[in-house]
Amino acid sequence: MTDWDQLYREKETPWDRGEPAPPLVEFVEKQSLSGQILVPGCGIGHDARYLAEQGYIVHAIDISGTALNRARSLHESKALNLKFEKANFLDESNGLPHAHFDLLFEHTCFCAIDPSDRARYAQAANQILKPNGLLLGIFFTDMENDDGPPYPSSRDEIRSLFSTYFDTLNVWKPERSFPGREGEESMYLMRRL
Ligand SMILES: C[S@@+](CC[C@H](N)C(=O)[O-])C[C@H]1O[C@@H](n2cnc3c(N)ncnc32)[C@H](O)[C@@H]1O
Repeated sequence: MTDWDQLYREKETPWDRGEPAPPLVEFVEKQSLSGQILVPGCGIGHDARYLAEQGYIVHAIDISGTALNRARSLHESKALNLKFEKANFLDESNGLPHAHFDLLFEHTCFCAIDPSDRARYAQAANQILKPNGLLLGIFFTDMENDDGPPYPSSRDEIRSLFSTYFDTLNVWKPERSFPGREGEESMYLMRRL
């Protein structure tokens, strides 16, 4: 099992690019989101801060206390509706409110957890979102990696995991990506049933 906190303590964090994910920025520039947003596996919090800067109410969680300390010192500000909290997204007793959030933003949390836990991820997403709430996700659908994390996922797997709880509204390839991730990602917009 990956010890995420140790990786942050040792600054072995190649996934952290110091800025929000380009596919997220591309989406927000074209389309507006609204309400309360949950960002699971937020890491150092660049995506969460970007969303809060756009005016959303953002609750960002991670299991690594070290990542959250860095996120707080970098991003917490009275001017933003942004809260960082230590919580395991997959743990049913994590205290996250049920049917509460308007949107879940997924970026590099789903690919970080063990593939055997993915059904639990879909259940947890269903639990925390309001009915008709949205899941906006960047998924690694076009990447080869037998030795994750990151663990890629096929479109068939995403359909089979999420279709019990979500309608898929749109799937597309982002025009912008971090260097080295071009072509590997697909964006999903799903709506909770
Ligand atoms: C690859 S990192 C990505 C971090 C951030 N999303 C980014 O792009 O910089 C995966 C993150 O998920 C967190 N994580 C892993 N399993 C988790 C879980 N069950 N609940 C909450 N966070 C988790 C890790 O601590 C780590 O910060």
